[in-house]
Amino acid sequence: MPRKKATTKRSSNAAMKPQNQAQRLPAEQRFAAELQALASFDQGPKPTGWQLTPRAVRTFVVGGDAGDVPISRKLYGHDVAVERAIATLAGQRGLLLAGEPGTAKSMLSELLAAAVSGTSLHTVQGGAGVMEEQIRYSWNYALLLKEGPGPEALVPGPLYQAMAAGQIMRFEEITRCPTEVQDCLIPILSDRLLHIPEMKNADDSVLLAKPGFSVIATANLKDRGVNDMSAALKRRFNFEALSAIRDRQLETKLVQSEVKRLLETQNIPLTITPDVTELLVTVFQELRQGQASGVQLDAMSSVMSTAEAVAVLHDAAVHSWYLAQSDQLHARHLLRHMVGSVIKDDDQDQHRLRQYLKLVDKERSEPVWRDFLHGRNALPE
Ligand SMILES: Nc1ncnc2c1ncn2[C@@H]1O[C@H](COP(=O)(O)OP(=O)(O)OP(=O)(O)O)[C@@H](O)[C@H]1O
Ligand SMILES: [Mg+2]
Repeated sequence: MPRKKATTKRSSNAAMKPQNQAQRLPAEQRFAAELQALASFDQGPKPTGWQLTPRAVRTFVVGGDAGDVPISRKLYGHDVAVERAIATLAGQRGLLLAGEPGTAKSMLSELLAAAVSGTSLHTVQGGAGVMEEQIRYSWNYALLLKEGPGPEALVPGPLYQAMAAGQIMRFEEITRCPTEVQDCLIPILSDRLLHIPEMKNADDSVLLAKPGFSVIATANLKDRGVNDMSAALKRRFNFEALSAIRDRQLETKLVQSEVKRLLETQNIPLTITPDVTELLVTVFQELRQGQASGVQLDAMSSVMSTAEAVAVLHDAAVHSWYLAQSDQLHARHLLRHMVGSVIKDDDQDQHRLRQYLKLVDKERSEPVWRDFLHGRNALPE
């Protein structure tokens, strides 16, 4: 149905709230009001260097309240893992979040760093080209030549900054770095100090980590073997595995609330009815598992993570709002946005998707499924 009074909606919508200047704010800024409420509400004991008590950190991640201020749930389905992760950090051990793609490893690491340290910005993004200097420190060569190796010429990297401030450093996709680069963390996690042998003054040549410093690393299980992690480094981390959410209701709730939040940040007041979200989550779960209506199908080779379900629903919503000029997202608009997330680099996946749609066509008569199948003509030939 075309959108009614689109101009009125758009102009009132534009006045809703000022656009944020950044596309995406770090968690500590996005949820600043919640963090503030938690800090003033929970006065219990907290580890040295922490901004919040461990209980308040948990509430920040899994939701609850701080007195009469509601705290939103941000991570679904991993409450026990979250508690263990917080205990790991409170015990001053490194935390490694491992799991399949799109299981909210990065999200949890960002939330924990924001809640524990008040910043999630001491971050290294692992990759084949990352060198130790980018993690620890490097030098301003102009100052180095002029004044020699002193504190002024040192350019602190995320690790140096986190140690000096007693905050958390995030190491994203650690196994994408060569093993010898990863290993620069071994002495840090053991002795909690960083040697800077180049310094001209011996007093400056060791940086001792302040209380509150720790490392949260993430590793993607699909990328296991890209670069192995040494046994010595593994021993210095507590591993926490995050798995894909299997519960349909929970995944539906998550996808619905994430997309609602994304649309709000873009000032798009589009309605998505829960049946459309539930259908999308059902399709993702069935394609992931290779099973639908009791029939065994070929499972897709692509991951089809929850993160991708969020992306598909969000893309379809944005498309409906701007291009179809509709106030509501219809199930028939989902399929065309699923193509890129379902069919990536394996041609067979196209065939698998068509087989699935054929089965669904035979088995499901509910209006929302019929509407979904209308989208079939948007599939590539
Ligand atoms: N359990 C969950 N709770 C809340 N959101 C989730 C959950 N699982 C996935 N998501 C959604 O997935 C998005 C992406 O997650 P994130 O990037 O943190 O995953 P990841 O595990 O780091 O993936 P990758 O391995 O590709 O880096 C989140 O922003 C959120 O929308
Ligand atoms: Mg990640």
